[in-house]
Amino acid sequence: MSHAVGRYDFHDKDADYARLAAELRALLVGESDPIANAANTAALLFAALPEVNWAGFYFLKGAELVVGPFQGRPACVRIALGSGVCGTAAAQRRTLIVPDVHEFPGHIACDAASRAEIVVPLIAGGALLGVLDIDSPRAARFDEADARGLESLAELFVRSIRETSALAGAA
Ligand code: SME
Repeated sequence: MSHAVGRYDFHDKDADYARLAAELRALLVGESDPIANAANTAALLFAALPEVNWAGFYFLKGAELVVGPFQGRPACVRIALGSGVCGTAAAQRRTLIVPDVHEFPGHIACDAASRAEIVVPLIAGGALLGVLDIDSPRAARFDEADARGLESLAELFVRSIRETSALAGAA
């Protein structure tokens, strides 16, 4: 099955994230495999979001985040909870918007082109599953509308996985 990704300019971010959510829902419907759904979610986001050079997942395994399906340049594999933008968002269980990664103490540089980053924690039934991480080469690329939109997309991904223990328990 081929899937044509819709065209978005994100001038009206709330409206375009709503359209993207409908597209993601259609892509995930009837499938609960975590790797398959993470891979398609990352691919959709990377294709649809403007000015993005990395989009993907880190999943919690023990006390570390381990890279999952993504689009972009090869990335660091393991991030300790509390380290970098991803580990901080995971430890604090809140979305982090970083306008300039050079100003973020402990930022982990995977692609030298990255300037801005947004990380959304993935929570299922009170358990931390990992994070959704998006990087941009443009400083201040992400704002509160992106946070709202990406949180709703992350929620669709989390809900699509019936067997959440497949990720949470795989240390
Ligand atoms: N910059 C992240 C590391 C992951 S890459 O951006 C893909 C961080 O500081 O946690």
